[in-house]
Amino acid sequence: MSALEEKVDMIFADPPYFLSTGKGTVKIGQRYIDFDKGDWDRIRSNSEKDKFNYEWLKKCQEILKDSGTIWVCGTYHNIYSVANCLQSLGFKILNMIVWQKADPPKTLTNQRFNFSAEYIIWARKCEKVNHYFNYELMEAMNNGVHMPDVWKLPAPGTWEKTCGKHPTQKPLRLLYRIILASTREGETILDPFAGSCTTGIAANLLNRKFVGIEQDEKFITLANKRRLELESKVRASQLYERMSENPEEVQVLVNHVRSTLQPLMIEKGITYMRAGESKGSILVTPGFERMGYVLLHTNGENCHLYKLKNKGSFQIWTKETLEAHGFHPEHALYYMVLHFDNSKEINFSKHPKLRQGINTYRSKIRPLSDFIGLK
Ligand SMILES: C[S@@+](CC[C@H](N)C(=O)[O-])C[C@H]1O[C@@H](n2cnc3c(N)ncnc32)[C@H](O)[C@@H]1O
Repeated sequence: MSALEEKVDMIFADPPYFLSTGKGTVKIGQRYIDFDKGDWDRIRSNSEKDKFNYEWLKKCQEILKDSGTIWVCGTYHNIYSVANCLQSLGFKILNMIVWQKADPPKTLTNQRFNFSAEYIIWARKCEKVNHYFNYELMEAMNNGVHMPDVWKLPAPGTWEKTCGKHPTQKPLRLLYRIILASTREGETILDPFAGSCTTGIAANLLNRKFVGIEQDEKFITLANKRRLELESKVRASQLYERMSENPEEVQVLVNHVRSTLQPLMIEKGITYMRAGESKGSILVTPGFERMGYVLLHTNGENCHLYKLKNKGSFQIWTKETLEAHGFHPEHALYYMVLHFDNSKEINFSKHPKLRQGINTYRSKIRPLSDFIGLK
């Protein structure tokens, strides 16, 4: 860090948590899991942890701009030490983010609760110098409500491990949110414990500059492979799409309706779909509880977006019940029916691209950000 010539706008650090006992692989059920991350993560005494954390955080303080902020990850093994060092150095703690893992692995012992969270301290360098926070964007990403400090995100998926694995790789979705919240395009981000450079990949995809420091050659090789992947525009845009998905985001049902039927649907505040999995129907997936809006369109034209009366709920109606409401369904005996609020149409800032293929307008589910637009 001392070799860096220019100061940076933001630091993301995922330091050793000091968890590894050196015991290696443990058998759980039929699976062998390696709980040893490497020598760099070996358990240390409290005073050794404090000394190490104080030293690297002091270097960070020197290289960070006065208006800059730092994010540091941890669990109870290191996070108190990190918090104490930050405060002794004069940083101002802004938040302690709880990353609630959507899919936590099973904890080895039955003597405690299952570990399912990590913590990320967000602090600014100076008590008196303001920092940057993109409040509006975070609010928009959280369906118009002030983004809370508990983030439910899954562990990194196979789609972000195509170049190999780092034992403690962070998910791109976590970095996506952190970078958008605390930096502007063109700014410089430093990661002093870069590992496979998840921070660098997210930074590149979001048009930020990146400096990473890593001690282990094999992780640098892995990080370089990940960087090279971005040279393929197709791969870069795939990664961007997956990274920007918000697993908690409210979903929109995009429903193709006949032009003759659309006015009746709007008048009654009812959209219906054939039940089952046949062509033209919707598969009810676990994400359905996040369904909050319905977009009606005819061949990609004449789009209307409405809020569902009850998020994530639908009823199964018989053909006869629908007929009693003025509809004339022809294809099945039972239909999934969603009720929306027809008194308030919602404006969208991005016109949705709805064509899936030639003459194909199947119902599908899209995140709300596809329609209201996030920048
Ligand atoms: C928790 S991992 C970071 C993983 C990273 N966030 C990712 O997504 O791949 C910490 C990394 O810091 C590296 N490291 C540990 N001590 C270091 C030091 N003193 N200087 C540079 N790198 C170090 C380790 O080799 C390890 O790859």
